Amino acid sequence: MEAKIYMAPLQGFTDYVYRAAYAKVFNTVDAYFVPYISLKNNVIPNKYVREILPENNEQSRVVPQILAKDAAEFESLENVLAEHNYSELNLNLGCPYPMVTNRGKGSGLLPFPDEIDKILEHFYTQPKGELSVKLRAGYKTADEIKDVINVLNQFPLKEVILHARVAGQLYSGEIDENAFAYATQNLKHKLVYNGDIFSMEDFIAKQNKFPGIDTWMLGRGILMNPLLPHEIKGIQVSPQERFDWLNTFHQTMLKSYLEVMDNEGNALNKMKQFWIYFSWCFPNQRKLLKHIKKVKSLNKYGEIVKSAFYEI
Ligand SMILES: Cc1cc2nc3c(=O)[nH]c(=O)nc-3n(C[C@H](O)[C@H](O)[C@H](O)COP(=O)(O)O)c2cc1C
Repeated sequence: MEAKIYMAPLQGFTDYVYRAAYAKVFNTVDAYFVPYISLKNNVIPNKYVREILPENNEQSRVVPQILAKDAAEFESLENVLAEHNYSELNLNLGCPYPMVTNRGKGSGLLPFPDEIDKILEHFYTQPKGELSVKLRAGYKTADEIKDVINVLNQFPLKEVILHARVAGQLYSGEIDENAFAYATQNLKHKLVYNGDIFSMEDFIAKQNKFPGIDTWMLGRGILMNPLLPHEIKGIQVSPQERFDWLNTFHQTMLKSYLEVMDNEGNALNKMKQFWIYFSWCFPNQRKLLKHIKKVKSLNKYGEIVKSAFYEI
């Protein structure tokens, strides 16, 4: 059975430009999860609107994600997504940052299963499509997942994606495999694994630990090696293909950012952000990234990138 791969949502990295370029060049992931949208002073900021416009999301399965503190906020965002004809939504119960959690959103909801229950109850009284949940194992402790799973089991969710860390860990430190194993045994929904799959070896190790899982969400692993989903799916890629595809991918990203950003400087800043992970495709990753971060003109940027591709 071929593994299914989802692209994880990473705010500031897997934006619509990235998702479209990835789909055009590689096209190996089975679904694209859009970084969260949320309300600010009761309206959706433009930067989030751009991310969900249908014309910016032409891939076959795109799942927008809602970050909300309660049923009312959830409903406002859900209505906007319904206007754009999305039939599948995801609820964010994972964001670990205090600015978010202190407002009772993201993983800040995990210690309050009753609040999660209210959001889901509200959604399922008049569902406008299918809903999945992406969560951490807990806000303070991984024990929190037990009560949360009891709530999730009451509703007909499409699936549940678990990144088995607690909020304080942010994105490093041990994944709590016991918490993930608990979910495999107690959750009645389809479970998707997420966290720290950066190589084929990582994937095999997790697959051996959790043989019942057939769908894997990858974030930084794809950003660092866009061809990792090919490897996982057993699709052979020759060195020439790798070179050509990475090159086309980069050119597509640059061209799109030059088109959609206000000016060259902003496009360059976006590309610098992209290289934080993309530089891992190249030898001398640290040195290359340092050079790219320092660059001030598009010409100089072009020179550095050209010589990086010579060394690949
Ligand atoms: C910079 C950054 C931004 C992220 N933004 C989101 C987000 O908007 N929504 C979400 O559910 N997770 C977000 N995540 C978490 C990732 O989706 C994923 O759960 C996490 O990176 C672990 O997976 P990985 O090890 O494959 O990267 C973000 C992570 C990072 C590092």
